[in-house]
Amino acid sequence: MNLIKTFSKELIAWHGVDGRQGLPWQNNRDPYAVWVSEIMLQQTQVATVLERYPRFMKRFPTVKRLAAADIDEVLAEWAGLGYYSRARNLHACAKQVMEQFSGKFPSDPLLLEQLKGIGRSTAGAIAAFAFHERAPILDANVKRTLARLFCIDGALQDKKVNEQLWELASSLLPAKPDDMPIYTQALMDFGATWCTSRKPVCLTGEKKCPFAKECQSNLSDQVLLFPQKTIKAKSPEFDCDMLLLRHGNHVLLQKRPSKAIWGGLWCLPESAWVAKSMARANDATPNLKDLLTLALPHQPVAPLLKICTQLERGENIKHIFTHRHLWIQIWNIHASKAHAFSSEDLKWVTLANLGQYGLPQPIKLLLQGLSQVRGGDLKNESAFR
Ligand code: ADE
Repeated sequence: MNLIKTFSKELIAWHGVDGRQGLPWQNNRDPYAVWVSEIMLQQTQVATVLERYPRFMKRFPTVKRLAAADIDEVLAEWAGLGYYSRARNLHACAKQVMEQFSGKFPSDPLLLEQLKGIGRSTAGAIAAFAFHERAPILDANVKRTLARLFCIDGALQDKKVNEQLWELASSLLPAKPDDMPIYTQALMDFGATWCTSRKPVCLTGEKKCPFAKECQSNLSDQVLLFPQKTIKAKSPEFDCDMLLLRHGNHVLLQKRPSKAIWGGLWCLPESAWVAKSMARANDATPNLKDLLTLALPHQPVAPLLKICTQLERGENIKHIFTHRHLWIQIWNIHASKAHAFSSEDLKWVTLANLGQYGLPQPIKLLLQGLSQVRGGDLKNESAFR
């Protein structure tokens, strides 16, 4: 087919006029810098990465420095970017590169793919940008673009469809290795900005798609029918209680297990997440003893009961994850002293020091609100920088 032969040239020409130019991670052959930018860009908008990427690189300028850092420091730097497994994998991967590859990223996409947090498409992107390897990428935007250009039947979740798309992506690569960085960037940009999911330029008429006369779904007036969809199940909803236990300007934080959601982040002590249909009625107030037992199951409850007073219903926060919704009921509790816990996962932290801890976004916002209420004396904003 003609488009297979001409695609890379046409796409590179498109990028020269309408692609993203001058981004800080472009035209950089340092695989460490490329890798950090690719991981950060995975689930974060370019505008946010533009702000956060230079800050991350300043704090961890080399793979050696990142590998030597404490995971809490990495998570704190990542705070607000979400999908924290990316930060944990980044740290683990930096260690792998130091230990298994003497601090030098391999250029072979198959080896890159063996590293923590690097999938096949990210491995292709790093190999193309940093080493000019003729390795394909296939992120969600690229899948959509190819499914439309070539009217690929079947849902993207389907293994066979994926194999077909990888083969197609390989057959479209430019012949010259030195064209790989610009081609790869162009392919990402075209899918992200022109061949968008709901308003591709061919339908809005705002711009003239360079592939309009070759795109099979456009020629058959079926652009929005590709990629073909599977029916999506409704996200399940969960309820949980969290304790906002305060003593003066200290709050009690609990470190989450590394394998759980928000793994390794510091959070408020919480009860197990329960399917909404099974949860307590919304207006019922539990008693203090039950709450402490549910949220701090490994702590003897009697000494805690002695120091905890004033149970009050706090905010009810809805947090949306990719595949589930969580309703968090905050319970404000005052403690008459900072009880000494034997567990290393429980810590009293002053509001002013919260910025040193990686916190899930909704908890960060909640506690940020608290330190603001406490007034200017804390210079509260700086606590979260
Ligand atoms: N998403 C993933 N990698 C990207 C890149 N290099 N540029 C823009 N968006 C991206």
